[in-house]
Amino acid sequence: MQAKIVLLPGDGIGPEIMEQAVRVLKRVAERCGHTFSFQTEAIGGTAIDTFGDPLPEHTLDACKHADAVLLGAVGGPKWDDTAPALRPEKGLLRLRKGLGLYANLRPVTVYPALSAASPLKQEILSEGLDLIVCRELIGGIYFGQRETKTVDGIRTAYDVESYNETEIARIAEQAFQLAEKRRRHVTLVDKANVLDSSKLWRTVTKEVQKEHPSVTLETMYVDNCAMQLVRNPARFDVLLTNNLFGDILSDEASMIAGSIGMLPSVSLGEEQVHLYEPIHGSAPDIAGENKANPCGMILSAALLLRHSLGLEEEAVRVEKAVEAALEKGLRTADLAAPGASIASCTTMGDAVYAGI
Ligand code: IPM
Ligand code: MG
Repeated sequence: MQAKIVLLPGDGIGPEIMEQAVRVLKRVAERCGHTFSFQTEAIGGTAIDTFGDPLPEHTLDACKHADAVLLGAVGGPKWDDTAPALRPEKGLLRLRKGLGLYANLRPVTVYPALSAASPLKQEILSEGLDLIVCRELIGGIYFGQRETKTVDGIRTAYDVESYNETEIARIAEQAFQLAEKRRRHVTLVDKANVLDSSKLWRTVTKEVQKEHPSVTLETMYVDNCAMQLVRNPARFDVLLTNNLFGDILSDEASMIAGSIGMLPSVSLGEEQVHLYEPIHGSAPDIAGENKANPCGMILSAALLLRHSLGLEEEAVRVEKAVEAALEKGLRTADLAAPGASIASCTTMGDAVYAGI
């Protein structure tokens, strides 16, 4: 199989974790007889510095013509005070929008070797954890009307949360299809006791459910969900939610798995090009120090093999290699118990590489 993969390392720890993921992909290609070509493009703060734009036109163009896109992370304090349109994050949001990636899937599982790294009690974890956050990615408050102004001498700002039925129906459809391949249970997370937009989510999601009678649908307020996630995470299968709630709940869920550094994600849309990125940020505090956990990035590459290239066996191979490295006892700083020895980003990458 031949595939063209566009790499967007981005900022902070992005380039160093990307390096490990690319090594792993090259190893897979070599071992399994595939030819992957890689093209690196700029995004985020790095792109602002070089091209004056967090998503230069040629970057978006390269992504549109790729078989898949792998992204590290964007953002950092250096660009905190730039104008909103020139923030690194804006580049990522424009990329998601530009590729029409409305569904962001964030699978959360606990590797047995990492159960001690989870802040939850073993008795809660022993119930198991295998959920997937199905987050709407190109609508809602992230993309709504916004304004900062002074009204009668008082500084005021607003951001609008708005969804139409088409936007809700297509992500709900993804969630039900996913659930059909899993434990057939969807939890719609919203704030329908307060928000009109949430009420529409409920109405439309119930309509979509009628086409998926084998899947049960429950609805849950987001505050309750935040609580249930740490009380009884095993009860969840597919969590369907809007852009903002999905951002927040996936960080919470990731910690149950031991570290946000472990979680990969895939973003799907109507086009053929999908985007793969770890759910964590650019961690500027440890950037360039070889301390980052490359697993979320490497596992994102595994998802790329599975979803964009149809290489299921190869994806499993990568996932097993990550698991084996953890079972050997390797722990990056985010996973290590106090006083335990710490593996660097490259040591972890080497171990995964060796396991493929
Ligand atoms: C994520 C990140 C992004 C988001 C930021 C960097 C814009 O937190 O992918 O979860 O909020 O979507
Ligand atoms: Mg986030």
